Amino acid sequence: MGLKPATNPDVEAATIELSIDGKAVTAKDGVSLYDVISSTGKIIAAMCYHYTFDPFGSCGMCLVMQEGKKAPVRSCTAKATAGMIIRTEGDDLFQARKKAVEKHLSVHPLDCPVCDADGHCELQDMAFQHGVTNLANAKQKFIPEDTRSLVLDFNMNRCIACAECINVCKDVLMIDALQFMKKGGFNQVVAKGDLPLSCEFCGDCLAVCPVGAITNKFSKYLYKPWQMKKTTTTCNYCGDGCQMYVETKDTEVIRITSPLSWKNKWGDRADTAKGHGGLCVRGRFGFQYLDSPSRLKQPLVRKGNQLVETPWLETMHHVVERFSEICKRQGPEAIAGLITARCTNEELYLFQKLMRAGFRTNNLDSSARYGHLNFVHASRHALGIGRSPNDWEDLTKAKAVLLIGSNITETNPLTAVRIKEAIRVYKAQVVTIDSAITNMGKLASHPFVIKARTERLVIDGLVKAAIDLDLVDEEVTKKHPQAFAALKAGVAHVSLEQIAAQTGMSVQGFKDAASVFAEAPRSIILCGEGIVRQPDGHQNILKLIDLAWITGKLGRPGCGVNTLTEEPNEQGAVDMGVAPEFLPGQARFDDQAARDRFAKAWDVTLPAAESGAHLMEILNRCRSGQIRALYVIGENPLATMPASMEVRAALDRLELLIVQDPFFTETAKLAHVVLPACTYAEKDGTFTNLEGRVLRVRQAMDPLGDSLPDWHIMTALANGLGCQWEYESANDIQAEIMKLLPGYYNLGQPRKITPNADHYLSNGYTTMVANRYHSGAARPAGAEQRPFALLMGQLLYHSGKMSTEAPGLIKIAPNTGRLRMSPQDMERLGLVDGAKVRVTSDRGSLQLGVQPDQSVAPHTCFFPEHFNEPPVKDLMSVQLDPVTNVPSFKFTRVTIEKA
Ligand code: SF4
Ligand code: SF4
Ligand code: SF4
Ligand code: FES
Repeated sequence: MGLKPATNPDVEAATIELSIDGKAVTAKDGVSLYDVISSTGKIIAAMCYHYTFDPFGSCGMCLVMQEGKKAPVRSCTAKATAGMIIRTEGDDLFQARKKAVEKHLSVHPLDCPVCDADGHCELQDMAFQHGVTNLANAKQKFIPEDTRSLVLDFNMNRCIACAECINVCKDVLMIDALQFMKKGGFNQVVAKGDLPLSCEFCGDCLAVCPVGAITNKFSKYLYKPWQMKKTTTTCNYCGDGCQMYVETKDTEVIRITSPLSWKNKWGDRADTAKGHGGLCVRGRFGFQYLDSPSRLKQPLVRKGNQLVETPWLETMHHVVERFSEICKRQGPEAIAGLITARCTNEELYLFQKLMRAGFRTNNLDSSARYGHLNFVHASRHALGIGRSPNDWEDLTKAKAVLLIGSNITETNPLTAVRIKEAIRVYKAQVVTIDSAITNMGKLASHPFVIKARTERLVIDGLVKAAIDLDLVDEEVTKKHPQAFAALKAGVAHVSLEQIAAQTGMSVQGFKDAASVFAEAPRSIILCGEGIVRQPDGHQNILKLIDLAWITGKLGRPGCGVNTLTEEPNEQGAVDMGVAPEFLPGQARFDDQAARDRFAKAWDVTLPAAESGAHLMEILNRCRSGQIRALYVIGENPLATMPASMEVRAALDRLELLIVQDPFFTETAKLAHVVLPACTYAEKDGTFTNLEGRVLRVRQAMDPLGDSLPDWHIMTALANGLGCQWEYESANDIQAEIMKLLPGYYNLGQPRKITPNADHYLSNGYTTMVANRYHSGAARPAGAEQRPFALLMGQLLYHSGKMSTEAPGLIKIAPNTGRLRMSPQDMERLGLVDGAKVRVTSDRGSLQLGVQPDQSVAPHTCFFPEHFNEPPVKDLMSVQLDPVTNVPSFKFTRVTIEKA
């Protein structure tokens, strides 16, 4: 439609003046007249319009009179031009709009009593507003409902052909899964090719459908909209931190809805740069675990070989007694704790306080250790900032995005939508570098599929290419001539030809990617699991910072090096000090001034500055018998880590294993005490998303059974241990954090942070960088003996293990138990879908079926990390990042033979 460019910061649209209902209004030349009218606060009816995508102009509701024209004009598709004189009100317009409503109703089934949209339907609203009372001409279409999709039903009798569903899918999501098709004499919405819908199942089409033509299979016929309580909260699946509404009826969660809705169709088109308000499949359809019958509802205490339901009071007495006894006998060093980054900031804060001030131990860690801490440490070290510097708006408006080591649509689908908008609206060039054939790669201007585990070499190649091609920003490198000379010397031996052979990316590819990144005025690096969850994760980030530095992309508006967080509150876990190396606010645990401050605030003596164990060390010490008691909140190490880490041996050795979780996990089965915890929907608090935005989590339902919020259980435990904690709500904890970390609760806006590399570049950088680019020795070990790279990773439809408790998501993506291979490899090995193979790594061997997967690159194979059946994870070996102790266990080399 061409209406978007006026919102593009690179396009100077002229400011024009026009008249609306007698008032002079200024606007950008060429934008939708409807947008200009609604920007004055006037809302006129518009059933096929939504501000997030280009207007379609089918419903005939948004009529206005333009001076000089005889008939009314559709304002949504009309472009604002200078001098227009517009009238939006009057009986003639009212009657014209009423006629449009009557026309829609004349082919509508009027089955409102059994329609999910009854009471939440724009057609009903329009009929009411326009006084349509005579339906004598109504006639039925008798189109059979299309129930072939896994999550959505299409009732085309109710469709008003507004195309909002098609447009949101095509324009905003760039998926394009729907189309109109003439069937049975009617224009109907069908999945492309009239096949069963096969898409990302985000449900955004459902959200924008103004009538009941698209319905949610999981909540159909379960409610009337007015029966539901609607709670605004933050999604608990990934670090994107999408806002959502949990809709409950009595004690049941009925559905999740989004700010994106036909009800919310008026907005500034430029605002979508901050997000379009939609959700992904996990957020929208992954809610059924919240009130699942398999939730834990009672504390369990081990009696003999059995875990027996026990009242809370008795359980907590037992827990306090056992912890106290072990602490007295073995000292606080014999106690450790692990917590999931799915907990709120307030709970994470309380957890580290409990460990340090309650137990007096610094043996604690969170799931941020699985990768995010690599980013935080490197970024703090080089730039003095412990999180990503750019927000969604920066990403959307970037002119170049370098997305490396991330299958972003699978891990962070709504951040992926920002890149899609960058491509579609702001014409960004996107470089994707990954060992999978990703969805984003299909949209990117420069997609590169590389050999598995060669990301670090690719970065070497990019830095080398930037220097060779003189893509260097002289202004910034001149400020640190020695550092730049050292970097140049450090990469002098790097051969692009050699790296090209090692990585599978061509020499020209390196040059193109480096040029795209360096030459754009606003360039963003975004990296994911392929960078931070690798043994060289910390170095990888430092190298990406090198690239950004020399090309002048550090600290400049709209530029920076960023990472993705897979769990909802990994950033919060680090910010709240849940790591042995950090106190809250990312103060170093050995920083005396910070120690004094927290010791005073908590009125305790903190554990020794040099004490503390991170995740891997905790497991080692459990195995060696040094740690006797472990408190695990929401983590499931037994199901997550490979057998080579001997987690079971570590847990078996414990005298006391307390597991606090909403579900009876594999780790819980080994516990001495299991404490039933609430989900995010049953508590208040905040999450900090990947932009550094602190987002509210609000209680949407009563705790299930006797489950309690994690903060509540920790408070009871601390008080049992003799602390005098008086928290009665998450707000009380928040008040304490506010005092200790002023400015942290930036609700709504991420705090602006500016990277500064000056100190880093002038203090030891020359020595450090000398050994950074040692790509010569980098052939992936074992490639000759074991020709396949086996990767484990995330699917779009799941998140960790928690989503496997959501029947809706399991329906979409069940565990097939099969290894995913590229169709070419399967053909080469003579394997058909379902054929059995033997997969062998240095750690063992197992037999399983195979299935073709177009996203898997040749010479690699993939198994989703969410499932342990068969136990593919046990084929993995573990490598630790030498600086951050981040364990990496999602990659190994294997042989594949027909079984
Ligand atoms: S669910 Fe999402 S991806 Fe699928 S058709 Fe609807 S909008 Fe498109
Ligand atoms: S299904 Fe709904 S959104 Fe799609 S064209 Fe029909 S009425 Fe519009
Ligand atoms: S993108 Fe992430 S935060 Fe947003 S709905 Fe999906 S899982 Fe939830
Ligand atoms: S809103 Fe303009 S024609 Fe539908």
